[in-house]
Amino acid sequence: MTTTQPAPASAATGHTGLTFKQAVGRRRSIRFFKPYQPVDKGKVQKVLEAARLQSQHGNAVLIRKAVVVYRDETDQETFAGLCEAMYNQPAAAQAPCHIYWTIDMSGWDELKPSLLKLIEVGALTSSYGWSEQFIDDIVMKTPDFNVLAGDRTFAEWLSAIETGLAMGAALLAAQDEGLGTALLTGQRARIGELLGMPENTTVAQIQLLGYPAEGEEAGGQRPRPDFEQLYFEGRWGNPMRRDPAVVAELEDAGMIQAAAPLAHRRQEIRAMAAMFGLPE
Ligand SMILES: Cc1cc2nc3c(=O)[nH]c(=O)nc-3n(C[C@H](O)[C@H](O)[C@H](O)COP(=O)(O)O)c2cc1C
Repeated sequence: MTTTQPAPASAATGHTGLTFKQAVGRRRSIRFFKPYQPVDKGKVQKVLEAARLQSQHGNAVLIRKAVVVYRDETDQETFAGLCEAMYNQPAAAQAPCHIYWTIDMSGWDELKPSLLKLIEVGALTSSYGWSEQFIDDIVMKTPDFNVLAGDRTFAEWLSAIETGLAMGAALLAAQDEGLGTALLTGQRARIGELLGMPENTTVAQIQLLGYPAEGEEAGGQRPRPDFEQLYFEGRWGNPMRRDPAVVAELEDAGMIQAAAPLAHRRQEIRAMAAMFGLPE
């Protein structure tokens, strides 16, 4: 993403070179894809590169992994099985590319070497007390840091956060690449079998990639709770004040956009249903 004006949209690829605020503001869960327009592998790589650079606990780098499936390069039986495992949500079959974001609990084995690496490269410093001995004596013995030393539920929860951070970046990167994208839920165990995933790994969520068949606005920004319901200042329950001037600034920058439903959304949905032979 750039901080300057966005490059002109290309007819073939949609918007590219969005500002960060535009990428956040334009992202929607796209549920109708052009089934005939493949996704360039370079774009998929860029989505994965963005995910790879997201922050992670102790830089334990091997927890969040992904399997990319290109519909047109996968045998039909496997692809049909994957779509079925996503409860046959129609968008799954329409999207030419799927990313199966995964949590690999064995990645925690890398915690100590990853921390040592952070010391070696000067990210964690001795001025803050970091040393191999500190890692052994304190970090590895404290379940809040070394999650495998404690409650398994917390460990899984934190691992899901790791993969969630990657997915959040991947959604924005896809938007930045001019793609339509969405997360879908599926039957984790079945997908794991179909993709040959080892024990210790669980599918977190499936990201669809393709080009939207619906308008990019997809009917407007989706409902959210009020800012004040979500965020507190100083103390739980004390609503944080939302400054209208900041809202106006974000509207100008393209981050806060017109809320759903936009005019003609019903007609658009009807047209999409007819196009894909789906009920309205
Ligand atoms: C973890 C997760 C799972 C989701 N699973 C599905 C799904 O199975 N099917 C679907 O249509 N949308 C799914 N979504 C999309 C949400 O419904 C969507 O994000 C929400 O309605 C807000 O819309 P927006 O993403 O356009 O802002 C999922 C989103 C997340 C974060």
